[in-house]
Amino acid sequence: MAITIMENVVKNYRVGKIEVPALRGVSVSIEEGEFVSLAGPSGSGKTTMLNLFGCLDKPTEGKVYIEDRSVANFSSNKLADVRNQKLGFVFQTFNLIPVLSAFENVEFPLILLKADKPKQRKEKVMNILAEVGIADLANRKPMEMSGGQQQRVAIARALVKNPQIVLADEPTANLDSVTGEDILKLMLEMNQKTKTTFIFSTHDPMVMGYARRLIKVHDGKVQSDERK
Ligand SMILES: Nc1ncnc2c1ncn2[C@@H]1O[C@H](COP(=O)(O)OP(=O)(O)OP(=O)(O)O)[C@@H](O)[C@H]1O
Ligand SMILES: [Mg+2]
Repeated sequence: MAITIMENVVKNYRVGKIEVPALRGVSVSIEEGEFVSLAGPSGSGKTTMLNLFGCLDKPTEGKVYIEDRSVANFSSNKLADVRNQKLGFVFQTFNLIPVLSAFENVEFPLILLKADKPKQRKEKVMNILAEVGIADLANRKPMEMSGGQQQRVAIARALVKNPQIVLADEPTANLDSVTGEDILKLMLEMNQKTKTTFIFSTHDPMVMGYARRLIKVHDGKVQSDERK
């Protein structure tokens, strides 16, 4: 089953009076459980695609579907619900809340969802911190952790609410190559264990090497799309 689809998506950004084309007719269908890399040169449209899959923005033309539902007519509240309930985000610069501990950063989305009692919530957080290999760092603040450890917290934060899709924009770009490879291995392991779909962008051939499907984007179009 397709978990998310782009159908003839065109995205133009408006800068003053000028329209900047970012996507020029992209159609892709991502199946449940896939581990997909978006690759392509700077400015090719990777972040734009992730923002559209992530319901952070709407296409100029064409449609984006999450689980069979076109998001075009969703209100901004409904889009926020979709993001909170179905999507997890991982960023290049980790984007943890600096005053919160690792535990509290991971707990935060569960508090927003209001679905669990405190005891259940604590269990979920400790379980996922253990899964990503940093249970012993639960009380550390982001500043007191290495980049790789912070990205593990961010992956735990994305996965703790058991989302359908994790979207990651250049998740290894601020890490050294060894740490970056560890993060990719962790993402792949979590993908295989939880069957969560992962879509991540990269410039790095090492990262592309771990992908099970490689979608190459060039100048706002899909240039090639290969499953391995
Ligand atoms: N908010 C914006 N306003 C105007 N133009 C934008 C905006 N965001 C992106 N663009 C333009 O859209 C095109 C695609 O940008 P996008 O950020 O998706 O590329 P990318 O593949 O993620 O690049 P990079 O590898 O550098 O992150 C580029 O021409 C870019 O300049
Ligand atoms: Mg980008």
